[in-house]
Amino acid sequence: VKNTMTPIEPREQWGTKFGFMLAAAGSAVGLGNIWRFPFVVGEGGGAAFVLLYLLFVLGIGLPLMIGEISIGRKGRANAMDSYKVISPKSKWYVNGLLGVIINFMILAFYSVIAGWAFYYFLLALTGQIISNDKDYGAAFSQFISHPFLPIITQILLMTIVALIVVGGVRKGIEKWNNILMPTLFILLIILVFRSVTLDGAKEGLHFFLNPDFSAITSTIVLAALGQAFFSLSIATGLYVTYGSYNQSQSSIPKNAAGVVFLDVVVAIMAGLIIFPAVFHYGIDPGRGPDLAFITFPTIFTDMPFGSIFAVFFFFFVFVAALTSAISLLEVPVAFAKEKFRISRKIATPITAMIITVLGIFCSLSFGPLSHIQIFDRTIFGLFDFVAAQVLLPISGLLLSIFLGWIWKPLGVKEEIERENNTFPFFKIWSFLIKYVIPIVIFIIFLEKIGLI
Ligand code: PFF
Repeated sequence: VKNTMTPIEPREQWGTKFGFMLAAAGSAVGLGNIWRFPFVVGEGGGAAFVLLYLLFVLGIGLPLMIGEISIGRKGRANAMDSYKVISPKSKWYVNGLLGVIINFMILAFYSVIAGWAFYYFLLALTGQIISNDKDYGAAFSQFISHPFLPIITQILLMTIVALIVVGGVRKGIEKWNNILMPTLFILLIILVFRSVTLDGAKEGLHFFLNPDFSAITSTIVLAALGQAFFSLSIATGLYVTYGSYNQSQSSIPKNAAGVVFLDVVVAIMAGLIIFPAVFHYGIDPGRGPDLAFITFPTIFTDMPFGSIFAVFFFFFVFVAALTSAISLLEVPVAFAKEKFRISRKIATPITAMIITVLGIFCSLSFGPLSHIQIFDRTIFGLFDFVAAQVLLPISGLLLSIFLGWIWKPLGVKEEIERENNTFPFFKIWSFLIKYVIPIVIFIIFLEKIGLI
């Protein structure tokens, strides 16, 4: 089936074999690992949540990621049209459209947190972040509830993201990811050592690594599933879009396994830093979205060369957030560009502006709009919940049905095995995609709604 649209710009491709892998890892590794993972683990009661999360990452996330990349590489189009190329007469492209909507929602609230990270980087740079007598909780609440300061950082952040996305796949996205990812790793390793050698670290490690299965509830299961999806950037159309810029000689299963590995390692490292420190300094692990923003400055205050570490650390958090935000913007931009036949230069600022406006409401819900509660959640909480725990799993469910029953495992295999590539564990993959994943997600939903 040919793509009937004539794009007004030629379709882009990653510059090297590693371009996809690095950009995908740049998307996956972000605030989801360093900010969201610790606080949802804290709220979810610790290690049992971690175990569920790992199970979902390996059993659901990895197989779906492999399938999603394949859709993009086969379709060679945006998140929606790639479905049309594979199944022209069906309505499955709606799942691609759902992905575009999910990206909108996630970037709206993600840009707020990324703005916070940007602000903390600026604070660290100007030496204002740490001081011995500071109440970090109070300082942080004061900042996020400020009527315009967080909005300014959010708008600045979105401007940077848009400028990079305008640069396009190779010059914009690929170049940035190549430079900064490895350094983040080294920094995290140093901080893990610092944290696990604190007094009281044992208690934190126990909380993080020793599961108490009796604590598992349907809420925790769904939250762990949502975290797995969110952290891996699965079921958002991201892998379709980035996969569509892929060169055929790259191995999809290997790339996916690499991305999953990096993503999990960074999340686990963040946990190994946060939880020992949380117990050492007497911070409540279940305190919510501000956990990382309070714990890290506390660690740096008490550490040799802490203010220098703070600068580097917040710089990398900012960069990790940036590479993920870039991917979140790229999906709707690629969609708008091909759908409305407009150039990247036009599609990017328009999309970015709409998302920024939505994001401003999310930001204000920590301050002037905090009284607005919808289904017992703030605007921010609602965006996060609907995107991560409702739409992502629904999209994942649809994705698995599409892969397992519409395109079918053999079709996926054929795409993956192009240019002499192999598809190891194909039988297991196919079984997971056809039966296990749809059934498990469905049961988790029923359980959560209280039907079983
Ligand atoms: N995976 C990113 C993170 O963990 O920070 C967030 C994200 C990026 C989610 C892109 C979804 C997405 F499409």
